[in-house]
Amino acid sequence: MKNVFVIDTIEKVGQEVELYGWVDTIRDHKKIIFIDLRDRSGIVQVVGGPDFKRLSTEDVVAIKGLVKKRPEKLMNPRLQTGTIEIECRELKILTKAQPLPIPITGDGYEIDEDIRLRYRYLDLRRPRLTRNLILRSKATFFIRNFLTKRHFIEIETPVLTKTTPEGARDFLVPSRLQKGKFYALPQSPQQYKQLLMVAGIERYFQIARCFRDEDPRADRAYGEFTQLDLEMSFITQEDLLQLTEELFTALVKELFPEKHIAKTPWPRLAHAQAMQEYGTDKPDLRADKNDKDELAFAWTLDFPLFNKQTEADFFHGSGQAKFAPSHHMFTSPHPDDIPLLDTDPLKVRALQHDLILNGYEVGGGSIRIHDAKIQEKVFELIGFSAKQKSQFAHMLTAFTYGVPPHGGIAPGLDRFMMAILGEPSVREVVAFPATSGGKIAVMDAPSSPEETQLKELGIEVKK
Ligand code: AMO
Repeated sequence: MKNVFVIDTIEKVGQEVELYGWVDTIRDHKKIIFIDLRDRSGIVQVVGGPDFKRLSTEDVVAIKGLVKKRPEKLMNPRLQTGTIEIECRELKILTKAQPLPIPITGDGYEIDEDIRLRYRYLDLRRPRLTRNLILRSKATFFIRNFLTKRHFIEIETPVLTKTTPEGARDFLVPSRLQKGKFYALPQSPQQYKQLLMVAGIERYFQIARCFRDEDPRADRAYGEFTQLDLEMSFITQEDLLQLTEELFTALVKELFPEKHIAKTPWPRLAHAQAMQEYGTDKPDLRADKNDKDELAFAWTLDFPLFNKQTEADFFHGSGQAKFAPSHHMFTSPHPDDIPLLDTDPLKVRALQHDLILNGYEVGGGSIRIHDAKIQEKVFELIGFSAKQKSQFAHMLTAFTYGVPPHGGIAPGLDRFMMAILGEPSVREVVAFPATSGGKIAVMDAPSSPEETQLKELGIEVKK
C-alpha cells in the first residue's frame, strides 16, 4: 500500500521514499529532466535522467528516490514542497496516458461545462476540485462529530418511499412486486424524521440525499442534493437557532480559519421587514461584497404560513383552495396567530426559520405542528382532497399515540459549501453532478431500459 503522499516528503529530507502518482508537467533540460509528480496531496519536483524521456504528462508512475533539500536560490515559495526535490533512483511507468480531451491545469471555469462533466474524472484531477471534495468531506466529518457529542443519533431513512411534499416534482420508481405502483424518491426525509420523534429518538440527524425534479440553477442542483437534515424534540425555535449558529460558527473556525463571520449573534430579520428593506427574503448582508472571506450569516423569521395559491401550485386540492404552504404543510403556525386560521389565514405567521449566507438560502426549517386538529385544518386550508389527506394518514395516526413537540432544520450541504468556498455553482462542490439537461454525463444516464425490464415492471413506453 502507498504510505507516503508527496506532501509528506517535506519531512523526509535525507530519506529514500517510494512515491506514486501522475506526471503533472515535464521540463526537459536535455541531460536532466524535471517532472512534477502529482498525487491527491499536491505536487513535488522529481529530478531524473534520460529514461524520463519516455514519460508523457498524466502517465501514472512509481518513483523511488532520495529526498534532498534544494539549494536556497532554487527553492520555490509558491509550492508547498518547494524546499525539497526528489532525486529519482528508480522509475516505473505503471500506465501510459493519451493526451487529455480537456486541460486540467488552472481552475477550468472557462471550459464548456458539459465537456467538463463528460470527463468529470479528469476534471476532478484539478487541484481546485480535489480541494473542494476534501473540504466537503471534512465538513461532514465535523458535523457528525459535533452533533454526536450533543447526543444526536445518525439514522438512515428510506430512499424508496412515498411522495414528500416539498413542492417540487417527484422522481418515480416502478415497483416490480406491486405492478402499477410506484415509489417516490424523497424530496427530503421530512416525514420520516418527524416519525422518528414520535419514536422517541429526540435528537436525529442524517447527511441525507434528497431528490427533486426541478429546473437547475446556479444554486440548485438538478435531481439530487444533500442536506444536513436534523430534528429535535422538546425544544423551542430559539434552541434550534442557537444550535445551528454554534455548529456553523465552530465549523468555520476549524475548517475556514481565514474567513470571518460578519456579525455575531447572526442578525434576525422578520420576513416582512426583509422584503421591505431589501426586496428579498435572503438579503446579502456582507459589508463588502467583493471580500471573499466575509461570511454574512442571518436568519429570516416570521414567514407567512401560507401564500396565495396559484394555478401553477403543486398543491392542487378540491379546486377551491386559496392557500399554499409557504414552507411545507407540517410547519406550525405561530401560537398567537392560531385564531387567524379561521378568520384570515394569509395573516398567520409560521414558526419557520431560513438560514441565509451571503445572499443564499442555505437552510430551512420550522417548529412542526404536533396537534392533529391543527394539521387537519392546514390540510383543509391548502385544499387537500380526501384522497390526498389519506396519503398522509400515517402522520395523523402516528400523532395520536403521544407525539412530542418537535422541530428541525435542513441546511443544504451543497449550497453551504458553494457559498463558503465562493464557487459560482453547486456543481463545483459535487463529484458527479447532473448537467443542465439532467444528464449524468460520465455514465450517460438516464438510459433506455431493456425490453425485458419493462415487461417485468408491467410498463410500456409510448412512442
Ligand atoms: P427546504 O426545501 O427548504 O426544506 O430545503 C432545505 C435546504 O436544502 C437545500 N436545497 C437544495 N440544494 C441544492 N439543490 C437543490 N435543488 C435544493 N433544494 C433545496 C437548500 C435549502 O435551504 N424538509 C425541509 C427542512 C425542514 O423543514 O427541516 C426541507 O427540505 O439549501
